[in-house]
Amino acid sequence: MNEAQAFYGRWAGLYDVVATFPGVGSWREHAAADLDLSPGDTVVEMGCGTGANLPFLRERVGASGTVVGVDFTRGMLDRAAARVEAKGWENVHLVHGDATAPPIEGPVDAVLGSFVVGMVSEPARVVEGWCALVRPGGRIALLDATRSTDPRARPLDALFRLFVAASAPPTTRLRYPTPPWKPLDDRVTAAREPLEDRPEYAHEEFALGFVRLSSAAIE
Ligand SMILES: C[S@@+](CC[C@H](N)C(=O)[O-])C[C@H]1O[C@@H](n2cnc3c(N)ncnc32)[C@H](O)[C@@H]1O
Repeated sequence: MNEAQAFYGRWAGLYDVVATFPGVGSWREHAAADLDLSPGDTVVEMGCGTGANLPFLRERVGASGTVVGVDFTRGMLDRAAARVEAKGWENVHLVHGDATAPPIEGPVDAVLGSFVVGMVSEPARVVEGWCALVRPGGRIALLDATRSTDPRARPLDALFRLFVAASAPPTTRLRYPTPPWKPLDDRVTAAREPLEDRPEYAHEEFALGFVRLSSAAIE
């Protein structure tokens, strides 16, 4: 078990509270909308965590579609499974696996990565691999939190850095050789490279620029 799995396994309950805070749902709603899903489609969420996006994805593909959530942390998947069971969804499937080498056979209609690319060490390569799973004409969307470049957000920047330090595995260090928000910013930016030159690339920001949503079509 790596640091991230131990961290998210321990904090899955608390994470789910934060993941479903009022307001966060509207970002998730936008991300699901950007995938341009139709009833009957198949959508995969990489690093689905406790399943906070699953209701938005299930709503769009309907009872005839398929939603697959992939995550490598059992504690997070257990929460997601409880959510799926409570809703009685039979077409939402959870897979224990590594999103950097997804145990998924394409083509699928769409892929979502939500608050996850900041955790992978080669985000551009990994996202390119996700694009390869999507059928031509399908879509990919990335939703992430990073530091904001909006001058209005400056007073909140220290708070954001504190949040990242508290929510980045491990939490036991007081000093970091590299502050954890630096690789997060770099990875979130690098993850978008495979999307930027693709058709219908779209980018929007929420929460004064702290939250970024990017999407593109697959050619
Ligand atoms: C911050 S949570 C985001 C969860 C969910 N996508 C959301 O929007 O709330 C990151 C999740 O990604 C998972 N994760 C990180 N790296 C992963 C990998 N390489 N393979 C599978 N899951 C991964 C973690 O286990 C965790 O559940």
